[in-house]
Amino acid sequence: MPVPNPQDKLAVVVLASGEGTNLQAILDCAATGELPVKVHAVISDRSGTPALQCARRADAAAQICAAADYPEREHYDAALSRHIDQYKPGLVVLAGFMRILGGHFVDHYRGRLLNIHPSLLPKYRGLHTHRRVLAAGDREHGCSVHFVTRTLDSGPVIAQIKVKVMPGDSEDTLRARVLRQEHRLYPEVIGWFARGRLRLDDSHVVLDGKRLQSPVMLPAQEQDQ
Ligand code: GAR
Repeated sequence: MPVPNPQDKLAVVVLASGEGTNLQAILDCAATGELPVKVHAVISDRSGTPALQCARRADAAAQICAAADYPEREHYDAALSRHIDQYKPGLVVLAGFMRILGGHFVDHYRGRLLNIHPSLLPKYRGLHTHRRVLAAGDREHGCSVHFVTRTLDSGPVIAQIKVKVMPGDSEDTLRARVLRQEHRLYPEVIGWFARGRLRLDDSHVVLDGKRLQSPVMLPAQEQDQ
């Protein structure tokens, strides 16, 4: 894969199923120039999602690749790849894309496919992370950005932000606190990638030429520490 030239804007395609608040954070940082990327397209597996509206407001292509049109997973993944590849992205960003992607798809984008997950991976892979953290009585929680590999939520973790679980937290208050950090974490990591500082080497994260021994821990905003 060519190393991005720092002068160029990296072509990005975002896959999103829902509210699109992470997408919006990325679009905002791209608009200010803080993030040297251009989001060419947002693709959703559902019609009418707020994420698609965010895309249209930012003049990015808003496309739907509906699961119902492709009963076989491989056919869906192939159609999704065709949608994505027409934009020739250097990076594909999963921002609340709530479908499991097959091995061929993941291999095709290996090293240029990122995901954000609302937990301190490897803890709480899968769904309902905030509920599970509360049920376990954990004192801390957070979010992770990782390279996507074939096993769900198990790819090499690049960076994380921790937040405290407060007495009296509900799933909603905890989700909101973690989401605020996601909006800082994802643009930061995408910026590293876009500036050629971050890559996947075999199964290791390499940042600034060094293999990470553990994820980079970024500080939470003061109110959420
Ligand atoms: C985010 O919390 C993201 O971490 C999570 O979905 C939410 C999407 O919010 N993703 C996953 O759970 C993927 N396993 P958004 O649509 O407002 O960005």
